[in-house]
Amino acid sequence: MTRKATGLPGSESAARTRGAELRAAIERHNYLYYVLDNPEISDGAYDRLLGELTALEEAFPQLADPTSPTQRVGHAPLDKFLPARHPAQMLSLSNAESAEETREFDARLRRMLSREEPIRYTAEPKMDGLAVEVIYEKGVLARGATRGDGTVGEDVTQNLRTIRSLPLRLLRNSGAPPHPPRIAVRGEAYMGIADFERLNEERTRGGEQPFANPRNATAGSIRQLDPRVTASRPIDIFFYGVGHVEGRRFTSQWEILETLPGWGLRVNDRAERCEGIDAAVAYFERLAAARDGLPYEIDGVVIKVDDLRLQEELGAIARSPRWAIACKFPPRQETTRITKIEVSVGRTGALTPVAHLEPVNIGGTTVRRATLHNQDEIDRKDIRVGDRVLVQRAGDVIPEVVRVVEGKRSGKVRKFRFPVRCPECSGLIERAEREAAAYCVNAQCPAQVKERIRHFASRRAMDIDGLGEKIVALLASEGRIASVADLYKLEAEQLAPLERMGEKSAGNLVDAIARSRERPLSRLLFALGIRHVGEQTARLLAAAFGSLDALAVAGEDDLVAIDGVGPEIAASVQNFFREKRNRQLIERLAATGVLPPDRPGAARAPEGPLAGKIFVFTGGLAAMTRDESAEAVLALGGKVSSSVSKKTDYVVVGDEAGSKAAKAEKLGVETMDEAAFLKLIGRPA
Ligand code: IVH
Repeated sequence: MTRKATGLPGSESAARTRGAELRAAIERHNYLYYVLDNPEISDGAYDRLLGELTALEEAFPQLADPTSPTQRVGHAPLDKFLPARHPAQMLSLSNAESAEETREFDARLRRMLSREEPIRYTAEPKMDGLAVEVIYEKGVLARGATRGDGTVGEDVTQNLRTIRSLPLRLLRNSGAPPHPPRIAVRGEAYMGIADFERLNEERTRGGEQPFANPRNATAGSIRQLDPRVTASRPIDIFFYGVGHVEGRRFTSQWEILETLPGWGLRVNDRAERCEGIDAAVAYFERLAAARDGLPYEIDGVVIKVDDLRLQEELGAIARSPRWAIACKFPPRQETTRITKIEVSVGRTGALTPVAHLEPVNIGGTTVRRATLHNQDEIDRKDIRVGDRVLVQRAGDVIPEVVRVVEGKRSGKVRKFRFPVRCPECSGLIERAEREAAAYCVNAQCPAQVKERIRHFASRRAMDIDGLGEKIVALLASEGRIASVADLYKLEAEQLAPLERMGEKSAGNLVDAIARSRERPLSRLLFALGIRHVGEQTARLLAAAFGSLDALAVAGEDDLVAIDGVGPEIAASVQNFFREKRNRQLIERLAATGVLPPDRPGAARAPEGPLAGKIFVFTGGLAAMTRDESAEAVLALGGKVSSSVSKKTDYVVVGDEAGSKAAKAEKLGVETMDEAAFLKLIGRPA
């Protein structure tokens, strides 16, 4: 067949002209459809244009262009994401939990600015998704990244390119100013509620685990090594700011919000300009009332000082700007009915009663289960199977049953009786005196084994990418892994035939497992799942002892000498190493090469410029990990504690700092930011 017969241009120059026409037309229709929500042509007509362009680029490969609308999909999977340093820090926001706190924010700013008259604010919905930054160079999408720790994120360019509403090349709509030579725009990637529900239905039909909520679905889709998977997910984006710009000056936040759409960048049209804090509080209340009718999830309102000069004058404290605040909505609650109560087994053997619910939509997420915590809570709240209950979901936490909804109980309600044997292995259950939780004491209980492996592989522990719940369950049920040490013996050939695996994923998984051998001691300690040893305690122990061997023989006195380690943790650590099975596990791990190097130097120097000084860290530091900062303090003779008290000498306030910063202020403890800390330890940035 000749090219003419297929409707393709006969010459390269004609193809070039037609290609440019098609690209411009498709980009315009993308903008009309995705950004303005106002399409001019039918989906069929759009598909024909895209089809023609695809055929044309295939016939004339010399016309290939990464910014062509055909290039949104089809890139090969990556092995891992590369780090992406942000041209300017991506700050986070401090929160206001009430209108009163929002007004305090305004009062604080006016004091600082010595200002009587009202401040003008921009108020915007706080999208509940994933923060991203996209850099355009000469108008072409050059890089997209996640926020990461605010300084360095992950390069997810290939994935962001698959978002249809994100221009690969900035547009210039009528009346829009020319776009700057280089600009980093920031926004929130998200999934609309209807799209999220459709995706979950498809997943359930395909036997896959549904996502818990649109935010998880978004983050899971963007932190995907295979861009083809991301391309199949209905991700959208709203931009809300500029991180860095060359060759142009904006004067207000409002100007930014008005300018971006002219370049094809979507902004939320529910943003409003507010004269003074009363108007901003009224906006918050309006949005709270409108929240349930919105097609996407928001978790609050962001109020920003509009004037960028004022923003600059106000500056930032500890990673969050003084000029903005996130006003959070209260947790969402709905009523539904408990259909049954089951007991689930955690990795420590802890048994948690879980209420199965008639599915209920709580702010965009279908909730089917909620925790009842323990028997005491069930008794205290007098919760029975068949009861109508109020269920609450707040942020990241597991939904919980708040209380029984008053009203007549039907005759069908039933009291829940805690099982006397483990529901998974029929092993004995123990309940320690004065403790609310009950435990399955059989360490070989399959449910515990599975949960231990999952915890071991989780991101904050050994961080084994690709070893999710499904795979662990499969490997455990097939008897291929009975303990975490078995992971290191797995071979790609054994894994490839497993359901939904294949050679490529099997190879990736084996590589990810192998890489985890290099994790530092603190992570291994956390991964081992020693009771009461969370991430922070694991860091303290690793920094103080430097090796597993040293920790294994530590006496109670050595342990409690560490600030932040009390008798309970000390006993738990000692019990762990006393248990023969645990010692064997460590030996087996070491035999497969999981053996963090000894770091005797990590131990605390008795003398040093920081001798006797107690540090508490809150929030993340950009220049070093928690382990490194703790080690630096110890090496100079100081101590690190996990909680602020009057004995604390310094609180180092990092990114997304928690309540410890406030507590320090209350107790009059000195706080310092990262720069001051780096200077103090002799490593100025
Ligand atoms: S402004 C310095 N505006 O909220 C200001 N953030 O901690 C930085 N978010 O995950 C953020 N909607 O991605 C801003 N309209 C909005 C937002 C918004 C959602 C997210 C942001 C980040 C978190 C802020």
